[in-house]
Amino acid sequence: MTATAAPSLPLVIARGISKRFGALTALANVDLEIHQGEVLALLGDNGAGKSTFIKILAGAHAQTDGTLSIDGAPVTFSSPQDAADAGIATIFQELALSENLSISENVFLGREIVRRVAGIPFLCRGAMKDRVGALLKELDAHISDPEAPVGSLSGGQRQAVAICRALNLNARLVIMDEPTAALAVAETRKVLSLVRRLAERGCAVVLISHNMADVFEVADRIVVFRRGRKVAERRREASDPEEVVSLITGAHPDVRALEKAS
Ligand SMILES: Nc1ncnc2c1ncn2[C@@H]1O[C@H](COP(=O)(O)OP(=O)(O)OP(=O)(O)O)[C@@H](O)[C@H]1O
Ligand SMILES: [Mg+2]
Repeated sequence: MTATAAPSLPLVIARGISKRFGALTALANVDLEIHQGEVLALLGDNGAGKSTFIKILAGAHAQTDGTLSIDGAPVTFSSPQDAADAGIATIFQELALSENLSISENVFLGREIVRRVAGIPFLCRGAMKDRVGALLKELDAHISDPEAPVGSLSGGQRQAVAICRALNLNARLVIMDEPTAALAVAETRKVLSLVRRLAERGCAVVLISHNMADVFEVADRIVVFRRGRKVAERRREASDPEEVVSLITGAHPDVRALEKAS
């Protein structure tokens, strides 16, 4: 085992997070903890506030109220770069990869390894290729050539490249918004096993998904948002897909009681 011995202090603590867009309350008083080495699934109906919450974690939105802390220290993100500097990588559904660049160029985009000779910068292609090759191997991504153009890859392989990019940033938290929504069965399996592998490396993963089978396959914990509120939190083994569906739709007695009380 590596240095993950102190599970008591969560990697991320969100307290009382609210987000208002004018008159609309997208998030109301959300408390959430994210631990190293866990896969946390974030579920909820359309408009429940999932993307808004991860955008706050990713530094893309500022919360209206509430605090975020990392390793117990309060943080304020004014940009996605701030969140990246704190070790938070977000893989959006559209992935933002450059089709005509190679895998290794995509992984190192904007942070290339450069060597200077007489003041003139040269790209260290060999070093970048080796690093990406090692990451792909570690992820067991079944991609043999880091120099292949991303345009030639399948959806699942593209997810693997995006995950490599997050690893190369030394991300401690990787957020994935619907990573398997557009994938076929075999590709989905591969991405889910990449997700598990990230967690085994000690990374925390927040996974947004509408797919109950995927969630029950990979998640350690399940959090349900409804109308901007966190309405439930379950360990995977303590729940089942039927219960989670009823939490999402509001048919579950716990959610009814909560909504009646407010
Ligand atoms: N930039 C914005 N300006 C105004 N309202 C917004 C903005 N972003 C989100 N909202 C609203 O906030 C609410 C929560 O949206 P959010 O995108 O977080 O939902 P979601 O849970 O990710 O849904 P989905 O499953 O459809 O992606 C919705 O009512 C949405 O219309
Ligand atoms: Mg969304």
